[in-house]
Amino acid sequence: MEYLNFKFDKTLTKDVSIHIGKSIVTDINTYLAKINPDKVFIVCDSMIINNYGKQIKKNIQQCYKCQLIELKVSENNKNFKNLEFIIDNFFKYKGTQKSCFCSLGGGIVCNMTGLAASLVYRGISLVHIPTTLLSQVDVAPDVKQSVNSFQIKNSIGQWKAPDLVLIDPLFLNTLSDREMRTGLAEALKHGFSQDLSLVKYITTAIKKKVLRNEDVLETIIYKTISLKIQHWNNTPNMWNELEKTEKLTHIGHTVGKILEMVQIDYLSHGEAISHGMLIEFYISYLLGYVDMDFIKYAKEILTTTGLLYPLNKNYTSKKIINLMYQNYPLFAILKSPGSSNIESTSLTKKIVKKAVDWYLKEEKIRK
Ligand SMILES: NC(=O)c1ccc[n+]([C@@H]2O[C@H](COP(=O)([O-])OP(=O)(O)OC[C@H]3O[C@@H](n4cnc5c(N)ncnc54)[C@H](O)[C@@H]3O)[C@@H](O)[C@H]2O)c1
Repeated sequence: MEYLNFKFDKTLTKDVSIHIGKSIVTDINTYLAKINPDKVFIVCDSMIINNYGKQIKKNIQQCYKCQLIELKVSENNKNFKNLEFIIDNFFKYKGTQKSCFCSLGGGIVCNMTGLAASLVYRGISLVHIPTTLLSQVDVAPDVKQSVNSFQIKNSIGQWKAPDLVLIDPLFLNTLSDREMRTGLAEALKHGFSQDLSLVKYITTAIKKKVLRNEDVLETIIYKTISLKIQHWNNTPNMWNELEKTEKLTHIGHTVGKILEMVQIDYLSHGEAISHGMLIEFYISYLLGYVDMDFIKYAKEILTTTGLLYPLNKNYTSKKIINLMYQNYPLFAILKSPGSSNIESTSLTKKIVKKAVDWYLKEEKIRK
């Protein structure tokens, strides 16, 4: 018997440039110059192709070859078949190793385009142009790319950092209120766990009815992404020991992701993680960390924001717990609000069930 080995030290280090600003996308070719692609493949949400996709293609064509790939977007369509469709079109329209993928749409398009970009020739350049608030604050400035399989959200995926992220708040002019709120949930998550002044900024904007003001949105986007990056910078081992250290981004998500799975396309992502946050904050309370006043405060904020979309009869404790414990759930336990003091841990079914039961009872009262 012989033994051989070799070390694979191909680094994932990459500088990701994130530009945020009104009308920034009109200058897209200036930004693309750094990548200098031989062809740009825009993967565009079919719902926004007329509003934005065709115009952006025209702009790019002033300097680069460009092909639009249109995608019908839904969680059910976020699958392998449509990933293959994107990749097939890339080769059909003569993409090369020097070509680049560019997502134009919400989180679904970003995730699918990112995964395609990681697979084609084992990785080509990737630009994200996110058009929903959620994708602007969370999905695009990130490295997780994925599709769903067997109703399990994001179960097939890959790490792939974008080369460039262009965030233009003007896209949000056409976004529905419900989709706006879903992005706010992500911003509030960072606020509750890292900086309560962001929570205050958002709620004040809602109360003053200036939330849709582009400068206000730009501030929310900038602050949220800054907090996300701050968390990454303070967690140096994050990418090597993800399951142990990805504490903050998990908040509300361990439960929230299950709530999304109970009935696909019923809750938006933001609504699911908002319910998820309250259940997880209650777990923190049961463990002796946060107090009931904080839970009431968080509930009030999420209610004001309109994020607590009512759960229907499909959301039973049994279903939620069974789905959750099909895997090995890790929970982000918030120890003190607004201070990045979070622990990532496994929990017994008993304590999680207690929190879910409490919440479902609260929901009944709310209705
Ligand atoms: N780090 C990550 O990778 C990460 C983080 C959070 C969520 N996600 C994923 O992101 C997805 C959710 O993202 P999303 O909420 O953006 O969903 P989405 O992509 O489905 O977009 C939501 C809706 O908004 C529409 N839309 C997009 N841009 C628009 C615009 N400018 N004007 C009007 N309508 C517009 C879309 O057609 C769609 O109907 C989920 O699949 C989730 O798993 C990934």
